[in-house]
Amino acid sequence: MALLPRFTKDPADAAAALRAEALVALPTETVYGLGGLASSPTAVARIFQVKRRPTTHPVIVHIADDSAIEHWARDIPPTARLLAEAFWPGPLTIVVPRAPHVSEALTGGQSTVALRAPSHPLFRAVLAKLTTSELPAPGIAAPSANRFGRVSPTTANHVADELENYLDPDDLIVDGGDCAIGIESTIVICRDHDVVVARAGGITIEALATVVTVETQSGGDAEPRVPGSLASHYSPNAQVAMVTNGAEFARVQSALALNPDVGVICLANDIHVVPTSWIRLAVPGTVDQYAQQLYTALRDADRRGLTHVIALAPPADGVGVAIRDRLRRASARMF
Ligand code: TXA
Ligand code: MG
Repeated sequence: MALLPRFTKDPADAAAALRAEALVALPTETVYGLGGLASSPTAVARIFQVKRRPTTHPVIVHIADDSAIEHWARDIPPTARLLAEAFWPGPLTIVVPRAPHVSEALTGGQSTVALRAPSHPLFRAVLAKLTTSELPAPGIAAPSANRFGRVSPTTANHVADELENYLDPDDLIVDGGDCAIGIESTIVICRDHDVVVARAGGITIEALATVVTVETQSGGDAEPRVPGSLASHYSPNAQVAMVTNGAEFARVQSALALNPDVGVICLANDIHVVPTSWIRLAVPGTVDQYAQQLYTALRDADRRGLTHVIALAPPADGVGVAIRDRLRRASARMF
């Protein structure tokens, strides 16, 4: 039997493993990432191998703060600086032109690099331990710590469930508890005068718009690849249906009337319409709690062997936009 990767809570341990080019799963405020030293081709190659992620899909480079942008990017658009100043550290990823030394492996062959400064104290402590005179602006390449196309992990145990068979004994899982936000960062492509939202997430479009001009239609051939934007992504084994109105709910309810293995996720305000036979996977009181509990609920559905998950969508504004986006992708296989 393979030796399992070790759990730790010690940032010095994690920094040492990263320096030795091992992989370290790390907590962020959004979801857990599978981290490797961004400047190590060996570590970056292993990230793709462990995730079974196609090499054309770029990864986010996590940095300590906006002073490190210069090291990783060039021709930095003013919008990038404004957003970093307003929302870092936090759940916002900026896509900017890459510096010449940034490897094609990180960027999927694109001319841009995705940068984010996470706010989780343990992640920040690891970056601080990595910072030396030889490595003044360390970057940790970290996609979500799930296998490609699956639900992102929001606890250290989720990471172990996803990846323990694929990690090495020298790799580590840093246990930083439950992720506070629970869904991935907002990704914006920064241009000189405006930004394009490539993935809705923890920072709302309303919040972005207080700082920069937000172009909601991304366009044309120049559109970068974002694997989260594949139709079927964030999927559990159970079939997921997102319901946004009464007519859809009635249709789903009659289709599943005889099925005993149905789980439901909905706001506490909506629970009164849900049949008592459906298993309550999560009944969050607020939209933020909906985001925080969503991926655990989807994993829970699989653990219980449910065939279907019915998710009553939250309102389509604020963080609700990102929740609906993830539910739409998770449900792409159903109807
Ligand atoms: O919250 C998050 O963003 C988490 C935590 C760990 O930071 N990370 C995450 O990584 O969700 P991942 O790899 O699962 O999703 C990152 C997304 C991908 O869809 C990828 O295509 C996109 O970022 N991306 C990376 N580099 C890009 C680039 N140069 N241009 C456009 N999209 C890029
Ligand atoms: Mg992911």
